[in-house]
Amino acid sequence: MIYAPKEGFGRTARIQSMEDYQFLYRKSLERPEEFWGEMAQALTWFHPPETVLDADTDQVDFSWFGGGRLNACYNAVDRHVKENPRKPAIIWAKNEPGQYELITWRDLKHNVGRVANVLKAHGVKKGDRVCIYLPMVPELAYTMLACARIGAVHSVVFAGFSADSLRERILDSGAQVLVTANEGPRGAKRVRTKAISDEAVEGLSQVRSVLVVRRTEADVPMKAGRDWWLDQEMSKHRGTCPVEWMAAEDPLFILYTSGSTGKPKGVMHTTGGYLVYAVTTHRYVFDLQPDDVHFCTADMGWITGHTYLLYGPLANGTTTVLFESIPTYPDAGRLWQVVDDVKATVLFTAPTALRALLREGDAYVKKSSRKSLRLLASAGEPINPEVWRWYHDVVGEGRCPVVDNWWQTETGGVLIAPMPGATPCKPGSATLPFFGVEPVLVDDEGRVLEGNGVSGNLCIARTWPGQARTLWGNHQRFIETYYSRFPRLYFTGDGCRRDEDGYYWITGRVDDVLNVSGHRLGTAEVESALVAHESVAEAAVVGFPHELKGTGVCAFVTLKPEFLDASTEQMMGALKEQVRHVIGPIATPDQVRIVSGLPKTRSGKILRRMLRKIACGETQDLGDTSTLAEPSVLDELLTQQSQMQ
Ligand code: WTA
Repeated sequence: MIYAPKEGFGRTARIQSMEDYQFLYRKSLERPEEFWGEMAQALTWFHPPETVLDADTDQVDFSWFGGGRLNACYNAVDRHVKENPRKPAIIWAKNEPGQYELITWRDLKHNVGRVANVLKAHGVKKGDRVCIYLPMVPELAYTMLACARIGAVHSVVFAGFSADSLRERILDSGAQVLVTANEGPRGAKRVRTKAISDEAVEGLSQVRSVLVVRRTEADVPMKAGRDWWLDQEMSKHRGTCPVEWMAAEDPLFILYTSGSTGKPKGVMHTTGGYLVYAVTTHRYVFDLQPDDVHFCTADMGWITGHTYLLYGPLANGTTTVLFESIPTYPDAGRLWQVVDDVKATVLFTAPTALRALLREGDAYVKKSSRKSLRLLASAGEPINPEVWRWYHDVVGEGRCPVVDNWWQTETGGVLIAPMPGATPCKPGSATLPFFGVEPVLVDDEGRVLEGNGVSGNLCIARTWPGQARTLWGNHQRFIETYYSRFPRLYFTGDGCRRDEDGYYWITGRVDDVLNVSGHRLGTAEVESALVAHESVAEAAVVGFPHELKGTGVCAFVTLKPEFLDASTEQMMGALKEQVRHVIGPIATPDQVRIVSGLPKTRSGKILRRMLRKIACGETQDLGDTSTLAEPSVLDELLTQQSQMQ
């Protein structure tokens, strides 16, 4: 079924018809420099760009808005203080229901300036990295913007990651300052944020200062000379802090994400290109209107938080909601309650949250009015058509367009999405490319698949301003990861179908990355965590369809001889705990299957394809089993599988 554009929505929409979209899309591909040059004018530049694009695809080196100088914090904060000092910039929805704090543009500037002065007093200079490990508190936004203000590079680490994960990211980025909190309330739990941070920086002389946000009353040990309460430090400084005018290509932030190898990748985004892309996509994909209250439920630890909770809305002068809690606390009506309380006009969430809420029934939704909403958005993983329809029919009461948008940490902003009010939608498809984006499907041999009605590997043929430029300190890895499989094309790692109407349908990852509840997880990372346990000889991790998480984690494990007598129950528990401890709760395997051998080829390569089929319960169709070195291994796996069903 095709959902036609909403009548009436088109009158105020930025893009009113498919003709408008096609006209601008064509222009963006035919005259990209003119198109992006115009889009760049939405920002305030200290010195306007002299060129728009300088691309060297052979060297995988892209440079946008050369000669331009700007500051991301100035664009997100200062220029709106002049126009709208009393307008709320951030509405902080605290963990406990009914508790809100309004932060006006003036408050925001004042607090950002003070944090910037604190960072400077702690020796942070332009180009230095600052690691941020915080719950969803205003200080998180202040610190990111403070870094941008003084030209420091922020590296936000999701506060659900473990001490080991945090430490690895601090080491890779070379950060000398860590900003954290004493505790993080999250639903009914309290995360011991400072304790995790302490473990992460234990013995790391690299980290000079740890600034601690006082989120709760909890007293935590403070190490003299290293740990400082942020509120006390802020009270020493005034709010005025000059901005550092950055070159357009100067780094704005690093954000770590998972890839096919065990080591997380430090994706680097620039000041000019990223910000132009953030404001442009925020304006069109969410059909920005002057009085919008933009409620994006993503955590700041992910790219969605960076682009559509912080930089996009704030740089466009839009009120943004910072949600500290979770959609099911205290019950499944929480998101709708927040929507009503703050009068949100745009709600942007993830399919995993929608699946969990749908399961609780419509009564929670219907208790709220949701009258303020005019647009619903979803990203992070494929949205199941029945979830799309529920979002559209029940949550939006058929009034609001649903904007399923596809993109990645590396793309900085949305690459494929409908134009609300103009694009007819098919539930489950992110529809058509954004301006300036040229998707290409290629087969496994790298042949470009022309025309409609084809499926293949999703690549992007030309650069766009929001594209990540490199992996922190490792450009070679950037080239190998994204530009070696299909030369001169950016490879996304996703499989995709282009249907008869030219609509794009993401079919999921085709590499060793799992998308678990919208969080990217490398199978290799989980395997390394398991193998680090004293009992494990070998581990192979695969994904399987999971009702709530989209993809669940299934680990096949062989044990060392001295652990063969241990109780299976206990071992499973211990191994789940191991992954939780090493990576964080999001990576905890849903299933641990202890086996006496893994299926391998004669050359010793683990047959993951076969394990994937087994985990998915597709045991009828295991493909070619003749390459197995030890066929008996398969019998055991199949027996175990049949016992589970
Ligand atoms: C998946 C999140 C289908 C995809 C913004 C991609 C999606 C990965 C969608 C990136 C969508 C994201 N439909 N799949 N609308 N949005 N994905 O880096 O597999 O956390 O490669 O960025 O999520 O995840 P990341």
